[in-house]
Amino acid sequence: MNKKKLLGIVGSYRKTGNTEIVVKAVGEKMGDDWELSLIRLPKLKILPCKGCYVCMLPDIKCNLKDDVEWIMERMSEADAIIFGAPNYHFGPVGIIKMLADRALQSLDFQEKYKKIKTAVALTLGMEDYRCYADTVLQAQIRALRLDVVSLDCFYGTHPGEVELINDLDAKSQKMADSLKSDKEVDYSAPDRCPRCMSDLFRLHKDGLECVICRAVAKHKDGALEFIYFHPQFTEEGKNEHSNWGLNKKNEYEEIKDQVKAVQKKYSGGNWLLPEGNE
Ligand SMILES: Cc1cc2nc3c(=O)[nH]c(=O)nc-3n(C[C@H](O)[C@H](O)[C@H](O)COP(=O)(O)O)c2cc1C
Repeated sequence: MNKKKLLGIVGSYRKTGNTEIVVKAVGEKMGDDWELSLIRLPKLKILPCKGCYVCMLPDIKCNLKDDVEWIMERMSEADAIIFGAPNYHFGPVGIIKMLADRALQSLDFQEKYKKIKTAVALTLGMEDYRCYADTVLQAQIRALRLDVVSLDCFYGTHPGEVELINDLDAKSQKMADSLKSDKEVDYSAPDRCPRCMSDLFRLHKDGLECVICRAVAKHKDGALEFIYFHPQFTEEGKNEHSNWGLNKKNEYEEIKDQVKAVQKKYSGGNWLLPEGNE
């Protein structure tokens, strides 16, 4: 029998570190019908996005020579994905942002990606320094248009410590269940946005606004009561945003002379570079 493919993406450089262990623990809980393949993200070459928007044009591929197209293809072949990354200085480790910055390139894969259930695991030293890392990690993975179905935090500082905390078994089982379930995901938690899992909110005239998807909630009896969901995060909203990006690209031709004049005014400068780095 052909096994289903679980792709484990490990955002930590540390071998057999906590992130790798969590990803493998989820892999084990998936059962015998599933086969886990692993990618260590920091081993890949991921260049900075040049902001040229070329990848948004039909039939044109990004011209950066690196491993991003390769990992996007591997993701598109998966039946489910477990994405793990450590918290580095209050946010997800930088390689996650490097990949998320290339998310426009994933538009070619979006029809497949939106059907790939993805669990997101943050590893971290301590709750007091979780800060914005878990919310941002899952938001950046969503930016790739994968279907994020669960998010959890796994604590441990030294490599391997995550298993000593005693909740690895239960949490990894829950993640595996979320990946295998056919049911609509219920993100309900008293302190999170039910639509995008964020727990980051800014003040809004009617209450609190989710910083990721702009849903608005009132704070009532120790929980959040949501009163508005902005259309921006619906499937239609996301497509509108992609079209907006494409129109921006087309608009360039019309205002090219004006912006080139601005660029000329601000060109030059005393740029510093290490020796040999031209
Ligand atoms: C450079 C660096 C920064 C870190 N910053 C944080 C932090 O801000 N908050 C936190 O809770 N843990 C922080 N940690 C701890 C790691 O998130 C934790 O050890 C994690 O389990 C590492 O996963 P790994 O073993 O897969 O590399 C940091 C670790 C390093 C090396």
